[in-house]
Amino acid sequence: MSGKGVFIVLEGIDGTGKSTVSKKLKAWLEENGREAVLTAEPTDDWLGKAVRRANNEELDPRTESLLFTADRCQHTLRIEQMLKDGKVVICDRYYGSTVAYQGAALEKDMGENAVSWLLNLNGPVVRHPDVTILLTSDPKVAMNRVGNRGELSKFERVDYLTKVQDIYLTLAREARWTVVDSNGKLPEVLEAVKKAIQAYV
Ligand SMILES: Nc1ncnc2c1ncn2[C@@H]1O[C@H](COP(=O)(O)OP(=O)(O)OP(=O)(O)O)[C@@H](O)[C@H]1O
Ligand SMILES: [Mg+2]
Repeated sequence: MSGKGVFIVLEGIDGTGKSTVSKKLKAWLEENGREAVLTAEPTDDWLGKAVRRANNEELDPRTESLLFTADRCQHTLRIEQMLKDGKVVICDRYYGSTVAYQGAALEKDMGENAVSWLLNLNGPVVRHPDVTILLTSDPKVAMNRVGNRGELSKFERVDYLTKVQDIYLTLAREARWTVVDSNGKLPEVLEAVKKAIQAYV
């Protein structure tokens, strides 16, 4: 493993295992002598708190998109500093989440323009990840996994998550995205993710 900053993002619909895999990846990188940091969106600072609050409100999805992106803009500055310091930054959700979730919500009003608006909005805000892992899953399996947590958020519906995952799969046609099927057992998923990032770390 090298010693330079590497930016790894995990994306995917709710319950695909992003947070679980992120923690295991961090441990694996550290066992191999790399300094790894775990970070996530929405963040824990006040902009991230505003985003979480908005999740419980009936907000226009465009307003929501702007809030998520504002949080990301500040977050990206912190990520860039950690990369400069030579760390491996593992980020649980990034701009792909806004494009996929708010893109799905805005499709009704804006059609295909929704995704291009969101990509354009995020373009000057993001730092392009070295690699993005898209964890995919049957939305019903994923929903069952998060269902154990108790009350579901407004985003956690099978039909909506199916649309979200379709947008993610379109984004994943770009270079530096790798799709990993997360329907299987965690050790298998983890192996596939490690394989996908090995060349970068
Ligand atoms: N491959 C797997 N097989 C079975 N259970 C899994 C697998 N991956 C994760 N889980 C379990 O599914 C639940 C959801 O996983 P996790 O919280 O990592 O998902 P997430 O993608 O971070 O979800 P969210 O987007 O809602 O934060 C957890 O209870 C976790 O232990
Ligand atoms: Mg999570």
